Amino acid sequence: MSHDPTMRTVSGMRPTGPLHLGHYFGALKNWVPMQDSMSAFFFVADLHALTSDYADTSRLRGFVHELVLDWLAAGLDPEKSVIFQQSKVHEHAELGLLLGMITPVSWLERNPTYKEQQQEITNKDLGNYGFLGYPVLMAADILLYRPKWVPVGQDQLPHLELTREIARRFNGFYGSVFPEPEARLTPAARCPGLDGRKMSKSYGNGIYLRDTMDDIVPKVRGMFTDPARLRKSDPGNPDVCNLFPYHILLSSPEECAEIREGCTKATLGCVECKKIFMRNLETFLEPLHQRRATYTPAQIDEILADGDKRARVEAKATMDIVREAMHL
Ligand code: TRP
Repeated sequence: MSHDPTMRTVSGMRPTGPLHLGHYFGALKNWVPMQDSMSAFFFVADLHALTSDYADTSRLRGFVHELVLDWLAAGLDPEKSVIFQQSKVHEHAELGLLLGMITPVSWLERNPTYKEQQQEITNKDLGNYGFLGYPVLMAADILLYRPKWVPVGQDQLPHLELTREIARRFNGFYGSVFPEPEARLTPAARCPGLDGRKMSKSYGNGIYLRDTMDDIVPKVRGMFTDPARLRKSDPGNPDVCNLFPYHILLSSPEECAEIREGCTKATLGCVECKKIFMRNLETFLEPLHQRRATYTPAQIDEILADGDKRARVEAKATMDIVREAMHL
């Protein structure tokens, strides 16, 4: 695809810890090619991290750096993409406030993600105003850059729908300012955690992009496979195995077919299968580790400072239009 600078994409991630394979295959992998075909804005959503993790912010700055480093390792290029920090571009907060004026509370209370997280997350108090307003701030993040595409995972769709509804309502009151952005979905990549639960940093069951083989070998050795397969001579079922979804992501289609056959016919044991996986994982991670090693902390600061400046130009231009439209 050729580069079309009038076509824009925007996306962000919360800085809550190192990225694991689920983050990579679920989102980041799709961001990388987009920077070649259109004007791309990728930001660290540190304000969004505060909506739930407001009580202890001592690790926030470190997480911001780490997230950017993970992105660069995965192939985001600061020459091609505008990489920036949400809280440094104050227009996000300003537009968030203005959009809050026109967003009915009932839309936020109805949001399935909100209801689900309120129920599921019990170790933090999510009764705060900012958490309810999460999608309003997200709408501001997106609409500030007036993008065509927002590359996100399936789980973000309710939020994106709210962004479109807020844009529509704004345009209805004040004239057409915001084009309605569209989701660019990442095909659902199944990345179970090492223990079969969802891969999540809070369960400590993930393989991280920054992991070295010394970290990975013991993790993979302990990984659950088909629980009914006790010996190599028992035929296995790749469809209930925790490891097999990773072969689908990292091994060639031919190799996956061979593994499936070897497993179901009991000619390939789990130990051998894990070795194939580790070899392919190492090949996949090697260029990421090489890129990661080329950046110093000072360079990350520079990349962010430059990105903040470039993002602000666009954000300011939109806010001029918004203020004018609202007679502020
Ligand atoms: N909600 C997103 C997530 O949890 C992060 C995010 C914040 C975002 N603002 C955004 C994503 C704007 C896309 C666009 O992953």
